[in-house]
Amino acid sequence: RTFGVILAGGVGTRVGLKVPKQLVKVAGKTILEHTVTVFEQAPEIDEIIVMITPGWESRIRDLLGDRYPKVGAVLAGGETRNETTRLAIEAIGSDDAKLIMHDAVRPLLDPQIIADCVTALDSYAAVDVVIPSADTLVEVDDHDIITAIPDRSRFRRGQTPQAFRLGVLREAYGRAARDYSFRATDDCGVVLHYMPEVPIKTVTGAEHNIKVTYPVDLYIADRLFQLRSAGTPTYGTAASREDALRGKVFVVFGG
Ligand code: CTP
Repeated sequence: RTFGVILAGGVGTRVGLKVPKQLVKVAGKTILEHTVTVFEQAPEIDEIIVMITPGWESRIRDLLGDRYPKVGAVLAGGETRNETTRLAIEAIGSDDAKLIMHDAVRPLLDPQIIADCVTALDSYAAVDVVIPSADTLVEVDDHDIITAIPDRSRFRRGQTPQAFRLGVLREAYGRAARDYSFRATDDCGVVLHYMPEVPIKTVTGAEHNIKVTYPVDLYIADRLFQLRSAGTPTYGTAASREDALRGKVFVVFGG
């Protein structure tokens, strides 16, 4: 059985509103509803578990109503994202289950990425979704002095979903629980640290699979939804080089 686990347990301090940021409306519905809709419509997903900010469970059950038949449970998350994952693991029984863990605040996820994660789980027990970095990455010391500029071609930016066979994630979190020096990382980080014998496969995400983190991201997400409803952009393939140089090539939507 394949579970979509929606991590919506945060409060959104950096967005800084009175409601958790996943409950802000963008393009006609809350960010959480957009995200749940993607999983509801994904044929690979059998059941959805929503992990919500403690204290918001009943309001979220009311908000979602019976419009999402795959939502099997709305449960309180924990103090930290790792704690929320731990509670989700405890809520799901069978170690054979596949988990597709996704940030509630990435509402622009493409269904194809879910499909790619589920396929990768046939061959690997842990899967991360990543994109190349357009920017150069630099490493700095405590005084903001550059210590290294790594080869960008070997680096990726991590997104979600992150997908796991439940037994592996449970074992990694079990080992973390016995380690006093455990430091919070994303779920793949927990597997990488505590089960280094398990290879973590990467699949390609999308530049528009943004995480709403700062207030400006609400605006960007809204614009991205508008672009999506306007259709696929085309870039005027018939345009000549001269037109391009004169600034006459426009992006056309709906092509
Ligand atoms: N998350 C969670 N449980 C927590 C903290 C975070 O399920 N205790 C979820 C968030 O709801 C979000 C995702 O993890 O969907 C990514 O986290 P982040 O963007 O850091 O969300 P917040 O913790 O809400 O934001 P902030 O750090 O600004 O408070």
